Amino acid sequence: MTDTIDAVAADRALKAKHRAVWGLGDYPSVARDLIPELGRVLVAATGVRRGERVLDVAAGTGNAAVPAALTGAEVVASDLTPELFPAGRAFAARTGAELTWEEADAEALPYADASFDVVLSCVGVMFAPHHQQAADELVRVCRPGGRIGLVSWTPEGFVGEMFRTMKPYAPPPPPGAQPPPLWGDEQHVRGLLGDRVTDVVARRQSVTVSGYASPEAWRDSWKQVYGPTIATYRAIGDDPARVAALDHDLAALAERYDRGSGSTVLDWEYLVLTARRT
Ligand SMILES: C[S@@+](CC[C@H](N)C(=O)[O-])C[C@H]1O[C@@H](n2cnc3c(N)ncnc32)[C@H](O)[C@@H]1O
Repeated sequence: MTDTIDAVAADRALKAKHRAVWGLGDYPSVARDLIPELGRVLVAATGVRRGERVLDVAAGTGNAAVPAALTGAEVVASDLTPELFPAGRAFAARTGAELTWEEADAEALPYADASFDVVLSCVGVMFAPHHQQAADELVRVCRPGGRIGLVSWTPEGFVGEMFRTMKPYAPPPPPGAQPPPLWGDEQHVRGLLGDRVTDVVARRQSVTVSGYASPEAWRDSWKQVYGPTIATYRAIGDDPARVAALDHDLAALAERYDRGSGSTVLDWEYLVLTARRT
């Protein structure tokens, strides 16, 4: 009994920490300026239609939820970090989309079984620490015959490498937490969803991120806007040598991927996976 209470308290503390991380910096600018096409890609890949009930899990500022709502679907944008919703509501207002915003942990969704026709997550559910628990929730709330659609950064792509680069500098994850980019591995996701889905279709593609004068300029911007990177720098903030080393490693990563001439151009690979609930 005490063990259960301790586990619940530990999970609450972990989620509060994650919520604080995603509230750091300026995630709305990342979704708006760098990766807006990912939401549209996911909505198209999943074939969202007018009148369908759609849940976007870990929706952030509605990168997928807003284009889904613009099809005429009835959309709920859910996320652990409601601090992101004002920017999401502003995005929706700018585009004329109407949808509902609800605070929810992807690992314990507050929705009935089979209550959505389509369940989406755009580089979102991958950040829930317990992959099987989160996958079980995606499956549970999707009706039989409904669709699940996921966009996830791949382990081998730029963002997967960025997380590997930051790992030695970040505090160790709690026991049982799994690395987010595993959701970019098709076999991993097939294993999580199991025989509860059919018609799995997966493809890898990239979003191009540009507009930076140099790899260092990308790094300096990124460490201002992206919560997990800001949190990693905070963890080593009292050690200038480690800060300098992480500065070096992130710029070196961007330099390795840079295919621009005159300015920095990076391709960030992701997996688009869709499946039908049996
Ligand atoms: C990279 S952002 C993606 C947001 C949005 N889907 C997009 O495409 O821009 C990751 C999101 O996952 C959310 N998140 C992290 N852990 C979560 C959890 N356990 N449950 C629900 N959302 C979570 C964060 O609050 C954040 O909004």
